[in-house]
Amino acid sequence: MKFFVDTADIIEIKDLAATGLLDGVTTNPSIIAKSGRQFLDVIAEICSIVAGSVSAEVAATDYATMIKEAKKLATIAKNVTVKVPLTPAGLKVCKEMRSMGTTVNVTLCFSPAQAILAAKAGATYVSPFVGRLDDIGHDGMELIADIMNIYRQYPLFDTEVLVASVRHPNHIIQAARMGADVVTCPPKTLWQLFDHPLTDKGLKAFTEDWAKTGQTIL
Ligand code: G3P
Repeated sequence: MKFFVDTADIIEIKDLAATGLLDGVTTNPSIIAKSGRQFLDVIAEICSIVAGSVSAEVAATDYATMIKEAKKLATIAKNVTVKVPLTPAGLKVCKEMRSMGTTVNVTLCFSPAQAILAAKAGATYVSPFVGRLDDIGHDGMELIADIMNIYRQYPLFDTEVLVASVRHPNHIIQAARMGADVVTCPPKTLWQLFDHPLTDKGLKAFTEDWAKTGQTIL
């Protein structure tokens, strides 16, 4: 399972990259707005920190403008993944960018039908939003199970399921149980994966007992 972080915060990205566990970064227009930075600059900087996929989302909704934006975003760095919405125009852009060798993340997926369309358009990643489904009383993880099952029936589909809108570690554990390819989540959620009270308690006891020996390793 690949870990992507859903942020444009450079300090957070550097901290997570230093763990060696970070495989990529996703952004969206809301995240860019929150960063207060120039979109193209911040994407270029992230691409220089992380070797893996960095999703940069188009802003237009019409095909003609979207394809121009997608082509421009793809020139920023080799590891840019162009992100497009799950609309007819977005999928048209997806198909065209894929034929040029650019990786594409199809976002705002909320149904199995939409996930089938993304795979047929040759998406590198499809991003179902689990948290936003949970928010309206649906079961976001049920959608992931459904998509994984559908994609398994068609070995020629090579679209990776990128679980997005992740709100807590349990979403990640459930996604892993289902064999989802990627999760993207806020930095805090990735750090939470380390947490267990028995790890803290055990480490405290080992440290205290080691001190009693009076020894040093170095
Ligand atoms: O970037 C897409 C997705 O992860 C957004 O998550 O928390 O805004 O629903 P959220």
